Amino acid sequence: MSATSPVRPVLPPDIRARKGGSPLVVLTAYSTPVARLVDAHCDIALVGDSVGMVIHGMPSTLGVTLEMMILHGRAVVRGCQKAMPVIDMPFGSYEEGPQQAFRNASRLMAETGAPAVKLEGGQHMAETIAFLTARGVPVMAHVGLTPQSVNTLGGYKVVGRAEEADKVMADAKATEAAGAFSIVLEKVPEGLAGRITAALSIPTIGIGAGVNCDGQVLVVDDMLGLFTEFRPKFVKRYAELGKAADEAIAAYAAEVRARTFPAAEHSFPDALPVKK
Ligand code: KIV
Repeated sequence: MSATSPVRPVLPPDIRARKGGSPLVVLTAYSTPVARLVDAHCDIALVGDSVGMVIHGMPSTLGVTLEMMILHGRAVVRGCQKAMPVIDMPFGSYEEGPQQAFRNASRLMAETGAPAVKLEGGQHMAETIAFLTARGVPVMAHVGLTPQSVNTLGGYKVVGRAEEADKVMADAKATEAAGAFSIVLEKVPEGLAGRITAALSIPTIGIGAGVNCDGQVLVVDDMLGLFTEFRPKFVKRYAELGKAADEAIAAYAAEVRARTFPAAEHSFPDALPVKK
């Protein structure tokens, strides 16, 4: 990119305008180095509350705090020049009502520099989404499997089969009517995700929702093979970085024990060679 054509960062209206166009490419990111990699290839770097499980070893996303999202959000914003950072609102930071949601969404935006937030929920969150949108907070919605509700859902299940389908459709339509600029469909059956995508004028971003969405998102550590604790069916591994890291650490440990690391080239002589 030359000095006369600076990179223009992607913003929520650009994402909205991609409806029906080329697929939106989204990955999570939690750190500056990974955000830089995501920025080079993706439209959105999602600072998901999956950070709690993937980076902090938590058993679910429920223990993630606003402070954690701000810290990781700042790191990701630093790594993005073009891709749009979107920050998840953590459990407990928005469900009380629109005022609480605005207070915390505005902190996420002001303290990280990210231009948008994501929150989970459909019809019951419509009032909050409308309140935020009217006050300068662009919202990405999230319906289907909403991991913050894992305890009421009874597990990380497919959501939207049989009689559940109408509710997921109504949830998606309610978020659009409330002003969301895009919507994540998680673990929604393929046919239903296609029908929702056809019914909405905002882009759908699928995760475990089949190929007919307007875009796809994956957890970056899942697709890189770094987070291997469990592997949902919808995850495709594009690399095995966990295995590569394990081999590298094993080689390092063996060399330290054998005193073959550090070698002379990694050490500092007592005196510098005299220049002639
Ligand atoms: O927290 C997260 O990473 C997410 C995506 C999986 C959509 O919400």
